[in-house]
Amino acid sequence: MNRVEGRVKVAGLATYAAEYPVEGVTYAYPVQSRIAKGRIRRIDARDALAMPGVLAVLSSEDPPRLGPGAEGELALFQSREVAYRGQFVAAAVADTYENARAAADAIVVEYEQDLHDVALRADHPNLYRPEKVNPGFPSDTVKGDVEAGLNAAETVVDVTYTTPVLHNNPMEPHAALALWDDEGRLLVYDTTQGTSSSRDLIAQTLGLSGEQVRVVSRHVGGGFGSKGTSRPQAVLAALAARAVGRPVKIVLTRQQMFDVTGYRTPTIQRLRLGADADGRLTALEHVAYEQSSTLVEFAEQTATPTRVMYATPALRTAHRLVRLDVATPSWMRAPGECPGMYALESAMDELACAAGIDPIELRVLNEPETEPDSGLPFSSRNLVACLREGARRFGWDRRDPEPGRHREGEWLIGTGVASSTYPAKRRPSKAVVTMREGDFLVQVAAADIGTGARTALAGIAAGALGVAPDRVHVELGDSDLPDAPLAGGSMGTASWGSAVVRACEHLKVNGSVGRADTTEEVARDAELARHAFGAQFAEVRVNSVTGEVRVSRLLGVFAAGRILDAALARSQFIGGMTMGMGMALMEETYTDEEFGGFLRRDLAQYHVPACADAERIEAVWLEEEDGDLNPMGSKGIGEIGIVGTAAAIGNAVHHAIGHRVRDLPITPPKILRTMF
Ligand code: MOS
Repeated sequence: MNRVEGRVKVAGLATYAAEYPVEGVTYAYPVQSRIAKGRIRRIDARDALAMPGVLAVLSSEDPPRLGPGAEGELALFQSREVAYRGQFVAAAVADTYENARAAADAIVVEYEQDLHDVALRADHPNLYRPEKVNPGFPSDTVKGDVEAGLNAAETVVDVTYTTPVLHNNPMEPHAALALWDDEGRLLVYDTTQGTSSSRDLIAQTLGLSGEQVRVVSRHVGGGFGSKGTSRPQAVLAALAARAVGRPVKIVLTRQQMFDVTGYRTPTIQRLRLGADADGRLTALEHVAYEQSSTLVEFAEQTATPTRVMYATPALRTAHRLVRLDVATPSWMRAPGECPGMYALESAMDELACAAGIDPIELRVLNEPETEPDSGLPFSSRNLVACLREGARRFGWDRRDPEPGRHREGEWLIGTGVASSTYPAKRRPSKAVVTMREGDFLVQVAAADIGTGARTALAGIAAGALGVAPDRVHVELGDSDLPDAPLAGGSMGTASWGSAVVRACEHLKVNGSVGRADTTEEVARDAELARHAFGAQFAEVRVNSVTGEVRVSRLLGVFAAGRILDAALARSQFIGGMTMGMGMALMEETYTDEEFGGFLRRDLAQYHVPACADAERIEAVWLEEEDGDLNPMGSKGIGEIGIVGTAAAIGNAVHHAIGHRVRDLPITPPKILRTMF
């Protein structure tokens, strides 16, 4: 299908959070902490308040009233303690954006500064084992005896990989517009991946009931996880609007986004793998070191994909966390699977090289019967078929396994492969379908974050009703619609679609309105290992003079249940793969160890792939039947595309130059350092 909202988007008629025309709107601009740790001694807003157009200053001098459930980064101006550099410590509200910004600059904040600690190290004395890792997995798992397995191995690989701080950079900045009505009801136009959950979190933060808050987010210009939970701008807009008695708008600058919208934790990952003479794993151990803030414990589930991938008699995974004077890390496309599979799939390549086995054959040899950690049967698993089909399409049989042998002038050419995986789950959702003059209106508080959710849901409803898709209209992005889970964890379509199908079935027996709530249906889902799988192939050329890496080809082959819409799916897969290329070669936020906070906080310095970097990216998929998932038979596809790409590219770089760079991103200086 063509995107049902395509026309309004290209015509500039799709309204984003900051764009709703509102009478009497005013503007808030935040003041950010200049220290990474300490406390605020005094805030002097007298000069700011005397400036033209200024309506109010909010700060901890006179803390705004919040509810008892206000927590973490959303508990704005409640404490005098500073948790990280860039934290919001005050805000100015004025009649124009420029006046608000000027007033914010004039607010004087005096600090009492403490020594900060912002550097993640694998030997940090404050590392600890978190109880759970996101979103609720056990931190550590052990099966069998890893040391015995390593001792018995013919080939052992013991390697450490590091990945930097990474930031989501959606095109649409984080923005909110808040309005209070005379009955004390709050309306927030926010940019969010879930209006039901945002409503609940904003209500909890402000001490309101869910009925007193409405969140509207009809179009979202990308999120990738950074809009998966409410961010400070939504709460700040609401507090400022309450303080001045007028609507308040706030749009974060790109630089502010780097400070307060979450990021992917840096990781240090140690992998130990042992294999017998045939290449069968005798032991597999994956330990991840990561950071969180002092405000909130967020522990990324980096080692969890290793619990899913390969058969081994001894398997240990572990996470160690240290709380630093940094902002709280959060979700970034495939949290856990993405950095974890970078390390695991790089290490598998190293094992293949050390054992003299083809990297595809090594993976096929270690294909498990059941999920390695849990022992659960897979609902479906077609990793081997993806590897085989990818090898055929990519021309893997023409590859010389010896690295560093293919040269064209200054360029060294190499190819690499890596596996992908991502969980395929669903959450409870509600939906209502109404027949109106022969057409059908689907209502669900789903979110379309650029993925094409409207289009997918229209197609699902049309299929369930047995009508043409153009007779179905989808209304989403509003918390006043039937409650729905957020667009996250690649569970959106599976969750909302289940409810839409059930509502359509109900309509068919009920007449004109169908309603569904899948809470009980989802609770009855059998306990199975449900995951999508894929295989990624990369061809790179590495310049032996400059160290530049160009990606000549990327191929992803995925097995992700039934693909509901080819155009939408392709867009998700190649989008994820492109983001994976950024992770492999370009993306990196520097932590400023001297002053705290981050450096490279804009798109001139935080490099993401441009069109010219994406020379040839192809995504295909296998037909996969899986009757254990949901009425559509679909698996989520929003995140698996980024999983494995960085490893495939890194493995290709190794194949090209014969040296391994184990620290992302693989930049020219690092390449040159290995070569000379
Ligand atoms: Mo995704 S990181 O679950 O928005």
